[in-house]
Amino acid sequence: MRGLSQQVPPPFQVLKDLMAKARGARDNAYAPYSGFPVGAAVLSGDGVVFRACNVENGSYGLSVCAERNAVSMLVVSGRVNPIAIAVAGPPGVPCTPCGACRQVLAEFNPSMSVVLEDGEGGLEVISLEDLFPRPFQLGESRG
Ligand code: THU
Repeated sequence: MRGLSQQVPPPFQVLKDLMAKARGARDNAYAPYSGFPVGAAVLSGDGVVFRACNVENGSYGLSVCAERNAVSMLVVSGRVNPIAIAVAGPPGVPCTPCGACRQVLAEFNPSMSVVLEDGEGGLEVISLEDLFPRPFQLGESRG
């Protein structure tokens, strides 16, 4: 049986297009406090893309990252099947999801493909399971 860590990533061109959509979503970032705009695009298993940006707040701790906003949009659509996410921070620089976002992404697919800029003009594709092994799982933690 194929393990979750061995999920086959979508074709590279699909992931390139996903990154282009993440970059587009970054244009709408509301990041007046950090000055650090981020865009994310999540691909569902049925081929739909959900885009979002970070949304900051004057009460800083209420700020929400682009990745969590994007996966929330997928869930609001009635889906729970993300297979890939692209994250675009400052152009050309890798922007890996923060720990909170990794946990939220893992809720829906612990081995989804994560697409990042590689800092050399290309893309890096990494499994969420490699970025975030052993997420908290409530069902396994009740004892
Ligand atoms: N941020 C994201 O949206 N995604 C990340 O992967 C890293 C950080 C946001 C949070 C905050 O609005 C700003 O970037 C600076 O931390």
